[in-house]
Amino acid sequence: MQQEKIGIHHMLKKTVMSQFLGSNCATASAFTSKLTLSLCLATMISACGGGTSGSANSSVASGAVASSSADADLSPQAALGAKIFRDTSLSASGKLACASCHNPDNAHAQTNDLSVQLGGKNLDVPGFRAAPSLRYLNLTPTFFFAADGTPTGGFNRDGRALTLAIQAQRPLLAAHEMANTSKADVLASLKRASYAEQFRQVFGAAVLDDADTAFDRITFALQQYQKEDKDFHPYDSKYDQFLAGTVKFEDAELRGLALFNNPTKGNCAACHISSKGADGSSPLFTDFTYDNIGVPRNTDIPANADATYFDLGLCGPDRQDLTARADLCGAFKVPMLRNVATRKVFFHNGRFKNLRDAIGFYVRRDTNPEEWYPVAADGSVAKFNDLPAQYQGNVNVTEVPYNRTLGMAPALSADEIEDVIKFLGTLNDGYKATK
Ligand code: HEC
Ligand code: HEC
Repeated sequence: MQQEKIGIHHMLKKTVMSQFLGSNCATASAFTSKLTLSLCLATMISACGGGTSGSANSSVASGAVASSSADADLSPQAALGAKIFRDTSLSASGKLACASCHNPDNAHAQTNDLSVQLGGKNLDVPGFRAAPSLRYLNLTPTFFFAADGTPTGGFNRDGRALTLAIQAQRPLLAAHEMANTSKADVLASLKRASYAEQFRQVFGAAVLDDADTAFDRITFALQQYQKEDKDFHPYDSKYDQFLAGTVKFEDAELRGLALFNNPTKGNCAACHISSKGADGSSPLFTDFTYDNIGVPRNTDIPANADATYFDLGLCGPDRQDLTARADLCGAFKVPMLRNVATRKVFFHNGRFKNLRDAIGFYVRRDTNPEEWYPVAADGSVAKFNDLPAQYQGNVNVTEVPYNRTLGMAPALSADEIEDVIKFLGTLNDGYKATK
């Protein structure tokens, strides 16, 4: 079933790819040279016209003030959201805010290399997943099943939150995060906040009289802040500027981009879309779908000490509405790769600590499984060891780059991985050309 679904998924992607190749550059078979592919891609992208979402001017604007973003651009609700986002007093410990795990100075992601962050009243309760970047989430659609059955969109790595406002409920109340025991707890802290009066002005004089209403407005303010503030979506990476034709790529970056896009090499763009949308929108490096790539179990996560505990993404245990969909067990959201080079942990469980290993895993998962999974005394390798046996067949083994078997050459050599890393480095926000 899953194989069939992935087949469809893959076919769709291939169609898109060949349409794009066909319409812009002779024929797909002309792409024997990787460099040609990337140049062609660049031509095609600029041919699509200027983006509306990420104008070249945004890099100029954001150069002025990085940390104190102009409140003038924000609605009153979003301006409150900016304060709430940084307010540690809304946590049981008094030490944790959204910004603690989603640091604005680190692409709104965690700054340390812990696989999971610590929360709770005494900051000693471990979480279950690595903290993602909050950049560019404004364009994530709400969760839905596409016409061909592909799960798409939604917030969190399992898409269980339909909107950013709904998403914001959980960190405030989760025992391993800000750990308020009730909405009334949150309201009590809010009443003491320096912006309490401003909150009443924006949401009505009675807003602090009812915990449900106040909580609802807090999460709405957090949503509006993430949607409105350009700090969350500046579109000023070197790649954006390359697409706009205002900077040139170095050779290694060009090679990396070509490998990233090439359907027979990295094939990364099949899921992490790298070209502009038909409407000229800037690429987000995700197609908003889900996949099971068989990331190894991470023994650094305390919950994993229990051999019967498995984080199965779409099918639970956090997400509860798809537990009967055995075919979706182990699938996690395709993350955006913008700012990925600033991360210190990779994948949903933070199993890898650098990009070299993360990409090495992709291309040598099946050719050299002993590098990634436990090896028994008899030499056998426990592949896909973060999935119960009955779900190991869900792992994607058909798409490039993980369509290999023992004895085959990896899809990317060590040097090619270095080129892809160089390219991924161009996806960091805030690039300023040095002349
Ligand atoms: C203790 C660390 C921690 C704190 C504090 C925290 N988060 Fe998170 N955040 C996480 C983790 C871990 C995830 C991934 C959760 C998952 O996939 O189930 C996450 C996921 C998210 C997502 C979903 C991102 C995506 O790709 O869909 C959003 C949005 C978010 N957090 C916003 C917030 C807001 C707003 C606050 C403050 C109210 C907050 N977070 C507080 C750790 C934290
Ligand atoms: C078939 C879809 C697919 C393809 C092809 C693919 N990826 Fe991914 N990628 C994913 C999914 C799904 C995840 C999240 C998996 C998880 O967390 O368990 C991911 C995660 C990542 C991450 C971790 C990001 C983070 O924030 O932790 C990196 C880095 C990455 N991919 C790079 C690449 C590169 C480079 C290639 C090409 C060599 C590639 N991907 C090809 C689906 C894909």
